[in-house]
Amino acid sequence: MPGGGVVAVTGTTDVNRVEAPVTVRAYLIVAFAAFGGIFFGYDTGWMGGVLAMPYFIKQYTGMDYPEDTGLTGQELKDYTSSFVVSPAQTSLTTSILSAGTFFGAIAAGDLADFIGRRLTIILGCLIFTVGGILETASTGLGVMVAGRLIAGFGVGFISSIVILYMSEIAPRKVRGAVVAGYQFCITIGILLANCVVYSTQNRRDTGSYRIPIAVQFLWAIILAVGLGLLPDSPRFFVKKGKLDKAASALARVRGQPVDSEYIQDELAEIIANHEYEMSIVPETSYLGSWKACFEGKISAPSSNARRTTLGIFLQMMQQLTGINFIFYFGPIFFKQLGTISDPFLISLVTTLVNVLSTPVSFFAVERIGRRNMLIGGAALMVIFQYIVAIIGVTAGAPGKENSNATKAMIAFICLNISSFAITWGPCAWIVIGEVFPLTIRSRGVGLSTASNWFWNCIIGVITPYLVADQPHSAKLGSKVFFMWGSLCVISFLFAFFFVPETKGLTLEQVDKMLEESTPRTSGKWKPHSTFAADMHLAEKHIEVPVSTKEVQEPRSEV
Ligand code: BGC
Repeated sequence: MPGGGVVAVTGTTDVNRVEAPVTVRAYLIVAFAAFGGIFFGYDTGWMGGVLAMPYFIKQYTGMDYPEDTGLTGQELKDYTSSFVVSPAQTSLTTSILSAGTFFGAIAAGDLADFIGRRLTIILGCLIFTVGGILETASTGLGVMVAGRLIAGFGVGFISSIVILYMSEIAPRKVRGAVVAGYQFCITIGILLANCVVYSTQNRRDTGSYRIPIAVQFLWAIILAVGLGLLPDSPRFFVKKGKLDKAASALARVRGQPVDSEYIQDELAEIIANHEYEMSIVPETSYLGSWKACFEGKISAPSSNARRTTLGIFLQMMQQLTGINFIFYFGPIFFKQLGTISDPFLISLVTTLVNVLSTPVSFFAVERIGRRNMLIGGAALMVIFQYIVAIIGVTAGAPGKENSNATKAMIAFICLNISSFAITWGPCAWIVIGEVFPLTIRSRGVGLSTASNWFWNCIIGVITPYLVADQPHSAKLGSKVFFMWGSLCVISFLFAFFFVPETKGLTLEQVDKMLEESTPRTSGKWKPHSTFAADMHLAEKHIEVPVSTKEVQEPRSEV
């Protein structure tokens, strides 16, 4: 290797040395990836508002603005209520995004093992841009739907692989907090979308919907260019057997010289863990690698089948907490309460509560732990949602027009959002980034993310039929919160019986913990040996070629 050398990697038997210390610069690299959450949030956030814009409705339906019809009185009222994009079109344009993201997340889980995590995310940005161009250019339903589908496919890439990338490069002590940063970006994305839509909604030109859509190009450019400068995940290179690249990527994400002992120890541990995993479920053909996701006994906490099911169900239960009912259908629901003059403003408030609560999770996930947060969060959501429902069917029942009851309901809805934002919002993403072994990690994260979008889509499609004031609706009104509250009881039980505690462990230690404990005893599990020792890598050397410019003095931890 011209201008290069060879580093002999030897593993460690010391459980405290399985991860290199990290510099500030390295923390910044990890934190940058969280920016991908903006896409997720913004893209789910703008459509509802755009569908309610007068210019957009006029363009899509061919109807005149109500004020231009010359109608008055009841006729004007009737015309105004029919001046909407039809429910079928609303449902199609909203849910087609989730259809795209569903397939995008699965395809990306596949691709990330071939071309790498970083390139998959950059490709996601490109696909998203193509979809965005179609959406912006559209003047009719066909092109808009095609644009949403393609953009959704790109968002699917980004939403799953950012989690994978961040979990694989983040230092264990802050991994939860960093992935919670991704959730924070999702909430900011939703808020930004609401603000942009709010400011352009009354324009009487194509800018009304084109501006909110076009703003998204900015996110694509920032993420793609930023990631272009960052290294790929060292764990991806280990999986590909490219140990030289793994060493240099690890050195960059830890901010250490490539020949430092810290880097050698951590690299050896990742290699040993991968060898171990391969010895249990060997990688065979392409189809075999998908099959591997469902291998093993579902009753064993460490089997692939159990981990994949855990990821898929965790994301399903996150959606079934009902959070998106509030974000997607908040304005309709608040309007039905009868005493609110500006339902959009209340929606903006709920979005803001979501953003402001999320940072609490940065500290809580590392102190209280993922499992406890999920259990506690579900319990709080049960209580708050039942209270909303009880007030709704008693003091706030239709016809009573009780503004105090309405205020109390909104307060408890906000408490419910806070509980979600601190617990299930971030923790569902954190856990899916941590529970899979390297052999199936990208596919496992892809499948789990696809489950999130699948249920997201289902909720988008069914909710209008639960509460909206339309012929085939169940017209549940506030009673819908009994339903969400009861689903949170299931989330509580799910977290209690199935979610392990992963805080403070390296991804390789998570593997061992799953083998040696049950979800309920996992919190007490402590690392006691290294994979390098178990796989006899602590006694032999692996020669890894490196470039000499990467070989310098070790830097201290921050
Ligand atoms: C969920 C989204 C939700 C958002 C709200 C995310 O974790 O997956 O569906 O809209 O949180 O902040």
